Amino acid sequence: MPGAIYAEGLVKTFGDVRALDGVDLDVPEGTVLGLLGPNGAGKTTAVRVLTTLLRPDSGKAVVAGIDVLKNPNEVRRSIGLSGQFAAVDEYLTGRENLQMVGQLYQMSGRDAKTRATELLERFNLSEAGDRPAKTYSGGMRRRLDLAAALVVSPPVMFMDEPTTGLDPRNRQQLWGIIQELVAGGTTLLLTTQYLEEADQLAHDICVVDHGKVIARGTSDQLKSRTGGERVEVVVHERDQLTVATEVLRGFGKGEVSLDDHTRRITVPVTGGAKLLAEVIRELDSRGVEIDDIGLRRPTLDDVFISLTGHAAEGEEEPGRPEEAAK
Ligand SMILES: Nc1ncnc2c1ncn2[C@@H]1O[C@H](COP(=O)(O)OP(=O)(O)OP(=O)(O)O)[C@@H](O)[C@H]1O
Ligand SMILES: [Mg+2]
Repeated sequence: MPGAIYAEGLVKTFGDVRALDGVDLDVPEGTVLGLLGPNGAGKTTAVRVLTTLLRPDSGKAVVAGIDVLKNPNEVRRSIGLSGQFAAVDEYLTGRENLQMVGQLYQMSGRDAKTRATELLERFNLSEAGDRPAKTYSGGMRRRLDLAAALVVSPPVMFMDEPTTGLDPRNRQQLWGIIQELVAGGTTLLLTTQYLEEADQLAHDICVVDHGKVIARGTSDQLKSRTGGERVEVVVHERDQLTVATEVLRGFGKGEVSLDDHTRRITVPVTGGAKLLAEVIRELDSRGVEIDDIGLRRPTLDDVFISLTGHAAEGEEEPGRPEEAAK
């Protein structure tokens, strides 16, 4: 029995770019799938295909039991979408935007009004509610867009990077709102570049890169794939990175990853604290001065790096060297 969101072999090309290169998805009803991937991975393209906004070159998609390619209009009535590119009318106030959505969905004027007030409150927009949306900040606009997606509660929801650009408080609040929605039975596909977000909200995670799903599983399953614990070292001087990397490679049970910028070297290990002591002795005998060293349990960041060869772009790492070099 396919889930509430189902896709098989989705392909979409733009010229030479294979934005989707054979994507399969299956999201059981009432669960959250986190589609995780770096810029250009194909996340938005996947959402656009599943929400009928874009026709794939090939493949199959079924949402809420309805064939996306055969019955797009019917699909549209069963889904909610909050997009990366907000569908907000600039010249209407926040309140008017929400009321308009309600009326599009055939709510009575009175119900639409009540709903708009409720949502403005929930998304901390009460004060700004009667100002035209064009005066809103980026974060306010995003919240309005999310509120618009929640005017009616469709059984299947898509959220493309719902919390990008939100401050920590608003992000936390949105997580709460999403958790309530899902507790109420909504099936949700959300895309994110924030590993922490996928960790918090998603039952299952698909990691995408270059239009392909390169890994899937629960957050714990993905973490255990990186092979457990790691040693992480921050060396004092950048010119000691080479020697230190060599030392760590000797102790490691996998690929060494290196961040030039923060002088941080990470390597998967087995052997725990005993090994850590040996690493410290060896670094010391090779004359490497260290600022910090520790054993780390894997995070989704580690998973991401080990799968894609690069970190996910997140707010935690602005201006990393490889980004600047692009
Ligand atoms: N309309 C389009 N015309 C041409 N190329 C496109 C179009 N839409 C997407 N692409 C390309 O397809 C690839 C996937 O893009 P997509 O927007 O799906 O990525 P994404 O994972 O959502 O990235 P981001 O994290 O930056 O939002 C990119 O290489 C992008 O340049
Ligand atoms: Mg996108």
